[in-house]
Amino acid sequence: MSVVPEHTEEAVEVEDLVLSYADAMDLGDAERAAGLFTPDAVLVGPEGVELVGAAAIAAHLGGEAARSRACAHHVSNLSSTWDRGTGSWRVVGYCMRWREDVDGSQTRSYWRTEDDVVRADAGWRIRRRVVTERGADRTGTVAEQVLEVMATSRAVRRFADRPVPADLVRQVVEAATWAPSPQNRQPWEFVVLTEPESVGVAARAIGPRAAELREYGARSEHPERRKMFLEVASLVEGLGSVPVLILVCGHPLTHASPAGPEAMLLSALYGASQNLLLAARALDLGAVFTTLHVHGEEAIRAGLGIPDDVVIAGTIALGWPDAVPGRVRRRPVQDVLHWQSW
Ligand SMILES: Cc1cc2nc3c(=O)[nH]c(=O)nc-3n(C[C@H](O)[C@H](O)[C@H](O)COP(=O)(O)O)c2cc1C
Repeated sequence: MSVVPEHTEEAVEVEDLVLSYADAMDLGDAERAAGLFTPDAVLVGPEGVELVGAAAIAAHLGGEAARSRACAHHVSNLSSTWDRGTGSWRVVGYCMRWREDVDGSQTRSYWRTEDDVVRADAGWRIRRRVVTERGADRTGTVAEQVLEVMATSRAVRRFADRPVPADLVRQVVEAATWAPSPQNRQPWEFVVLTEPESVGVAARAIGPRAAELREYGARSEHPERRKMFLEVASLVEGLGSVPVLILVCGHPLTHASPAGPEAMLLSALYGASQNLLLAARALDLGAVFTTLHVHGEEAIRAGLGIPDDVVIAGTIALGWPDAVPGRVRRRPVQDVLHWQSW
């Protein structure tokens, strides 16, 4: 099998096919979705159910569409490889589906899909689709879903080689601006780096510290911390190819406060950053809050024109995670919760 580099023009075309399938199902247009398969296509469902032929697939998708009143698929982490042996593209993607059933209940589920895509007629069609269920359908109120997003908002340091659309970046930054701040002063500014030149400024400034971080991690006796530092070092080594870097900045708050202007500023910027991380998780993006800029702050300021009186509080790396994040591991609440007094 020979592997063609990802994201050639042809690869993008075949990935678009998978996105078209999601669009068609969102619109409840089962006929259009079924039309994306070859006449002799095979659809393998999560429980091993196998449907052969366009007619069987159309009937199945029609049933799916009829069961839902509203539906939204979010597809991420698509990657495609060319399989010379079978003359087909293999497209792997992860899909999150939100669905409101006709009985009013809501479900959210995650899938991994593997499509064999071939050229048929004038364009690309799916010859075999294998669906693997990754997570049980999650029903839940908005509150339950928000709590689930919080509980699975892990630090993500490895990203798929896939750009993040600008409107999603804008959306997570907007969510950051919904954070509270002292006297509602909203002292934040966000410097978003997506172009190779600007990401490169940060990567060149911070990158040389990777070896030191790796060494520091290797010396740690705490296995979890050792693993974390090695992940941080990998992030730093590959910083130039992180899809999005966001510098969370702000002006110190000058209003009278016993905590001091910089502490007041940081209180706002950390809250805003957490909002950003949660919004990213809700959109199936992955992110990590870091203070990596401290390793090359002078060069970053000079390269990006950040004024001296502006504080940089964090450097957030953002992209499509290369794996679905697990749940956070934290000290148990009973160990940290004090009722009435310490
Ligand atoms: C103030 C602050 C600074 C951090 N600095 C870094 C950093 O420089 N590099 C990094 O990769 N992660 C950094 N992190 C992320 C933490 O390592 C991460 O939140 C923690 O290990 C918990 O990981 P988890 O959410 O996956 O459980 C920082 C987090 C905070 C709150």
